[in-house]
Amino acid sequence: MKSFSYINPTRILFGKGQIAAISKHIPESARVLVTYGGGSIKANGVYDQVMAALTGRSVMEFGGIEPNPRYETMMRAADVARAGKADFILAVGGGSVIDGSKFLAVALPYDGPDPWDLVTGKAKIRGAMSLGAVLTLPATGSESNCGAVITHQGLGAKVPFGHPSVYPVFAVLDPEATRSLPSRQVANGVADAFVHVMEQYLTVPAAGMVQDAYAEALLKTLIAVGPKTLADPDDMDARANLMWAANQALNGLISVGVPQDWSTHMIGHELTALYGLDHARSLTIVLPAMMRVRQEAKRAKLLQYAEHVWGVRGGAEDTRIGAAIERTEAFFRSLCLPVRLSDVHLKADVVAAVEANLIAHGMTALGEDKAVTPDVAKQVLTAAL
Ligand code: NZQ
Ligand code: ZN
Repeated sequence: MKSFSYINPTRILFGKGQIAAISKHIPESARVLVTYGGGSIKANGVYDQVMAALTGRSVMEFGGIEPNPRYETMMRAADVARAGKADFILAVGGGSVIDGSKFLAVALPYDGPDPWDLVTGKAKIRGAMSLGAVLTLPATGSESNCGAVITHQGLGAKVPFGHPSVYPVFAVLDPEATRSLPSRQVANGVADAFVHVMEQYLTVPAAGMVQDAYAEALLKTLIAVGPKTLADPDDMDARANLMWAANQALNGLISVGVPQDWSTHMIGHELTALYGLDHARSLTIVLPAMMRVRQEAKRAKLLQYAEHVWGVRGGAEDTRIGAAIERTEAFFRSLCLPVRLSDVHLKADVVAAVEANLIAHGMTALGEDKAVTPDVAKQVLTAAL
């Protein structure tokens, strides 16, 4: 195991009724900007709970943050924040609202020419406005990590950034807030969390026994509670475990001291930027093909995954690996998610388009071993046709 330094400073407020507790964790004198998406929080009562918890505070709001949050939208949010002299951001929604709000948090104190430079790395992030999160969609882990993914519509680019200053101060995880989710978003969340674990687990053996065993526990939990949540929307134990598993999948814990991949995500981001696929759906298409194309480099971990997660034991190595990949695909299909580009009506021209974008965005040496070149990405996309 490699040496590491680990901290996750986000306070988790987990369970029914926890939205009421946010006032204890926001300074009394704060001028709070509440950010949200297209309106689901107004329909399901979460907005009312948040506003009740903020009674007596100085509050302003910015709604309309879209899925795959846009730089352009968040620049409008910055105008609202500046006009109201906001000094605390409360993001209420899914990963898109939280990610967009993280960008806002770094953009507000920045006095350079264009805050997009903070996303691309052209300019250094030096600090951020304090941010809290009320999560309504278990999926990304954004509520307690220091990453975000922002889309620049004008440039046709979807780019991740990360900085320790954007860890939310607190994150409310109330499973009740997820009851209004359409099944498509529940399925997306299960798959996104599943692939987050895989990006940190399915690499090469690194003697991270705790990390491996915890990753396997998260995968098995997602395999169990994903279908349960879809089949019985009132199963609150399933919802609670889904919310906690998705959080733990990307809060930084399982990646310490071990290699990480993330090539499926980077290729998926290009698919979303080009064709508007839901984030999770881009991943369920790319991951099985990535496993096939990278079978040799990932052989030992694929065999471990087959045995520990799917209980695949007897038979030749290649047969076991093939079975594990098929089980993974069958799991995604059982959630009504696509596993081929053809499932979302995309054709062979996608391959060259994604390859060109990966090159344009400098994504030319991806994966735990930097071996996923644009040419390998091409093989992966071809295998996913
Ligand atoms: O906008 P509203 O009206 O709120 O509706 C949203 C949106 O349409 C709806 N929704 C959310 N909570 C709901 C609800 N509908 C009913 N009831 C509720 N309780 O769900 C739709 C999708 O929301 P979105 O926030 O886009 O989904 P998700 O949480 O999956 O976030 C996806 C974004 O996160 C990024 C993705 O790239 C994508 O842009 N990611 C962020 C990561 C991170 N920060 O660490 C890691 C991930 O890999 C991912 O890349
Ligand atoms: Zn993801």
